[in-house]
Amino acid sequence: MIEARKKCLYFIAIATASALVGCSDTDNQDAKGHSQPTDQSTHVTWPRSTLADLRNDALEAKIDALLARMTVEEKVGQVIQADSASVTPEDVKNYNLGSVLSGGNSAPGPLPYATADEWVEAADQYYQASIDASDGGVAIPIIWGIDAVHGHNNVVGGTVFPHNIALGAAHNAELIRKISAVTARELRVTGHDWTFAPTLAVPQDDRWGRTYEGFSETPEITRQYAPAIVEGLQGELASAQFMGPEKVISSAKHFVADGGTRDGQDQGDAAVSEEVLRDIHGVAYLDAINAGVQAVMASFSSWNGKKIHGDQHLLTEVLKNQIGFDGFVVGDWNAHGQIEGCTNENCPQAINAGLDMYMAPDSWKGLYENTLQQVKDGVIKQDRLDDAVRRILRVKMRAGLFSSVKPSARPLAGDESILSSGEHKAVAREAVRQSLVLLKNNSGVLPIAPGQHVLVFGESTDSISDASGGWTLTWQGGGLPNTAFPKGESILSGLEAAIHEAGGTVEYSTDGSFAQKPDVAIAVYGEKPYAEFQGDVSTLLYANPPVLDALKSLKQSGVPTVSVFLSGRPMWVNPLINASDAFVAAWWPGTEGGGIADVLIATSDGEPAHDFSGKLSFSWPKRADQGPLNVGQDNYDPLFPYGYGLTYADDDTLPDLSEEAGATNKQLNKYSYFEHGRAQAPWRVSTSGSGAHISAVDYTAQEDAFTVLFEGEMASSVSIENETPVDLFREMNGAMELTFAYRLDAELPAPVTLSLGCANNPACQGAVDITKALEATSTGEWSTMRISLSCFAQAGADIRAVNQPFKLESTSGTTIAIAAVKVVEDSDGQDNCPQ
Ligand code: BGC
Ligand code: BGC
Repeated sequence: MIEARKKCLYFIAIATASALVGCSDTDNQDAKGHSQPTDQSTHVTWPRSTLADLRNDALEAKIDALLARMTVEEKVGQVIQADSASVTPEDVKNYNLGSVLSGGNSAPGPLPYATADEWVEAADQYYQASIDASDGGVAIPIIWGIDAVHGHNNVVGGTVFPHNIALGAAHNAELIRKISAVTARELRVTGHDWTFAPTLAVPQDDRWGRTYEGFSETPEITRQYAPAIVEGLQGELASAQFMGPEKVISSAKHFVADGGTRDGQDQGDAAVSEEVLRDIHGVAYLDAINAGVQAVMASFSSWNGKKIHGDQHLLTEVLKNQIGFDGFVVGDWNAHGQIEGCTNENCPQAINAGLDMYMAPDSWKGLYENTLQQVKDGVIKQDRLDDAVRRILRVKMRAGLFSSVKPSARPLAGDESILSSGEHKAVAREAVRQSLVLLKNNSGVLPIAPGQHVLVFGESTDSISDASGGWTLTWQGGGLPNTAFPKGESILSGLEAAIHEAGGTVEYSTDGSFAQKPDVAIAVYGEKPYAEFQGDVSTLLYANPPVLDALKSLKQSGVPTVSVFLSGRPMWVNPLINASDAFVAAWWPGTEGGGIADVLIATSDGEPAHDFSGKLSFSWPKRADQGPLNVGQDNYDPLFPYGYGLTYADDDTLPDLSEEAGATNKQLNKYSYFEHGRAQAPWRVSTSGSGAHISAVDYTAQEDAFTVLFEGEMASSVSIENETPVDLFREMNGAMELTFAYRLDAELPAPVTLSLGCANNPACQGAVDITKALEATSTGEWSTMRISLSCFAQAGADIRAVNQPFKLESTSGTTIAIAAVKVVEDSDGQDNCPQ
């Protein structure tokens, strides 16, 4: 009871003005702070939007007139959105599609990302196709959507802002408004009408791969930011800017409780009561809707076992009837196909539940045909279709599209000087400064005094791509050279400029080595970028043995050490904190790396230009197994609590921390099986049959590979396996691939098969013949093979329970060297099955 009261007071304390945040959910929490589902037959009441009962009769009359002229084919086209990688302008015209999106990997042009010109040209083509009424039909402009989720992150030269987790630490809604206005302007340069932002997730378990897309683990900050973003993007309601030439349509996503799934599983199930759904995960939608957000994206996830895309109570009763949202509900990437009984191409359940626009990237054509038939057959009621189309037309009219011109002729279009303009860069740099959280600063190591010799090291120091995180130029982000960010600045270059300015010198190495003993060392390292389920982890452990060793040896020789930690979430890094005199959580700051130096490096007068002001909007774990760790929960035991963050005025000394991770090694390596010469725990290499012999050889380092020799006429095998199966189903749907490096030292004397699946049971293994693929490369040279997970599934693998992701089988003296066995993201958008 006392605990329940505390929690109740807490929610009252964080609720803002118009909050309808209740406290009743405390009764439904178990000891871990997990919520228990309540009886769904007793639904709660959701708050009503202040805009719900406003009606623009003139606009509705225009929609009536347009609807009356539309054929059923044209109406069905409006409710379908296709991806630009899978739809041509001709298709848009012929099927009267309502919208096109460009997914994270769907840029036009030869590269995985595109320039402003390439985007504008594509925008024109789709637009012209949509208004081509030469077949006698109606002309309805398409809306073109994209994930501009931390700036316009898909265009070369765009301003890439820190991810939302970082902005949450800034606690500054006015800054968020400026960022969103910049993002809208840059979207106008490339001809886009619409962004799939903001994400209003309230992540409860930081093992979720999308934790960084959320602002905070509590709804408080999200509630303040939601209207600021919506207004920054769309303009303030009833002002002259609203949907004006510098504005775009905004969508709040992913409705609802995407951040509330069990174990932080992406696209998983939120087993929570409807109070928790409303008061934690749903409450910021009210703020976004009150600010005029025009679209809401349904979540991939489920609520108490039911996929939200098929949940009529949530999409229709709650969102539209109770809250009174009058824009449209867009689906997520083929998410409708996950509803029980649906496929990507056939899903009347979703529109019947209240979805207004299907996101059907590559499935749009089949979906169009089935949906059309279902309307004709009455499976989908004409009224429901009309309502969905009405909502889409309402938004298009409000956005001014019917009175617009082709994208390239609109204000700002094609003007590259707007991308990362001086003004835009300044906003991003300010955001970087304000989002840094100082967790440790023993003996006042920071700020770095003027005139020092500074060693800067770590792999991410000079990589703008690493510093930008996921959803940057590509879906997963990472791995691109700095030339892909022609207007950006790396963290290294910012540090160099500031240190030189203050009369110091800089030595840079990736591994921490140096020629001249430094006065102080700064290491920049952390999580490599990821997006969506590819970022899901089983524990919050982050380890980096080379950086840890380098920090320790610097400390031993008396050099003070500073860590700048890049990540998409708080992580258990106690050994690295112990080895650092100062530790800064920098999240993923984006393209203005100079913002870090602004705070860390003192100017020549000995004072830094800016102090730290960031405060944690997520609790920092004390142990690696603290997935769900949220302020207000019972037995709350963080290392650094929600709201923590030092400034230069503090002189706290952090004592040495426990280095017990508190997590088992089990499943730490879901995607990495054999690397750096070692099977990655819990995986191990094993052989079966009498003929397989393995020995260590060199690949890129000494003995980081093994050679296997298969002797005799009876098949034998070498495999990588462990007891506990991993579920690779979502990875397969995300087109991920098994990859490994190999070398043949002589021609193959016998066929070779590779299988993936369950150990010792052919019934759940998928075997593919890789003989020809191996032979395609010359002997004596290392090559890389990639095979789509789907190939193994087609060959019979139980992809949901893989405890043997690699098994190589052959006979007769076949010899192959193997290294770097892992599952990685798709490289080319194609299914790679060996021929
Ligand atoms: C993501 C959305 C995104 C959409 C389009 C989905 O996989 O969940 O957040 O807006 O793809 O790229
Ligand atoms: C993402 C897209 C991405 C695609 C790749 C989706 O889940 O949201 O933006 O391009 O997967 O398969």
